[in-house]
Amino acid sequence: MRPDLHSFRSPGAVPVAFKPRAVGAIEFCRAQGAIVLTVANSKGGCGKSTLTLNTAIGYARQRKRVLIVDADKKQGTLRKWPRSNDIGNPTVVACGPSEVIETVARHIGDYDVVLIDTAGRDERMMAAILDISDILVSPVKPAHQDLLELGHFVHVARARDVPTIAVFNEATREKTAELKQLAAAFKAHGPFLAVAMQQLSSYRRVYPFGRGVLEIGREDPAKDNFAQVFAALGRVVEKAHAEKVGQ
Ligand SMILES: Nc1ncnc2c1ncn2[C@@H]1O[C@H](COP(=O)(O)OP(=O)(O)O)[C@@H](O)[C@H]1O
Ligand SMILES: [Mg+2]
Repeated sequence: MRPDLHSFRSPGAVPVAFKPRAVGAIEFCRAQGAIVLTVANSKGGCGKSTLTLNTAIGYARQRKRVLIVDADKKQGTLRKWPRSNDIGNPTVVACGPSEVIETVARHIGDYDVVLIDTAGRDERMMAAILDISDILVSPVKPAHQDLLELGHFVHVARARDVPTIAVFNEATREKTAELKQLAAAFKAHGPFLAVAMQQLSSYRRVYPFGRGVLEIGREDPAKDNFAQVFAALGRVVEKAHAEKVGQ
């Protein structure tokens, strides 16, 4: 008598097919138009959470349903902000880096845009996250050492055919010419977004309240700056999504 293969499955074990099913669910939603954007750079303090939050609010203001997956368990910056309970869009869920795929799969059906805020240097983990992403967005401070670090995940994304965009953060007006030189010198880590996030105190001031600079009621240089960053980034993301999903 042939053995019944099913009887060899231990009842408590997670079926091997679990992950592919999660990936399949995500791919289905992406094919329907959902965007998955991963924000990463192995360097801490380069502005990952600031860029994630402000971009999420940019999309929410376009009436898109936005989810932030806060996968930076150690810092947990976004999880702490008070916004999600009060206002709802964007919504934030927190998880460990190894739970990102399952978390996205569980929620993506309810959202138009999913932003994943990640930290750490684990390339295998990042590869798995990038496999479900339309684009890798990496904020980077305009300094030589920081740009070297940028290459770390960019090569992981390239190997998986995921488009990347680096965004200069905490740039200063005086440094505009220097930014061009840096972008040329580090062309291999590019492309760089044509508009940089400027070093402006409003980014820092509104952030602990779970607010983005686009929500500042009065005129503000950071609001103008991010409106330009968001417009430029939005175009790049849209193109990346169309190319990925059209494949
Ligand atoms: N463009 C900017 N101008 C001024 N302060 C900024 C800017 N970007 C980030 N910051 C501040 O720098 C600190 C680190 O940024 P954060 O987004 O938490 O970095 P990461 O998530 O990469 O660790 C925060 O206090 C944040 O408010
Ligand atoms: Mg962070």
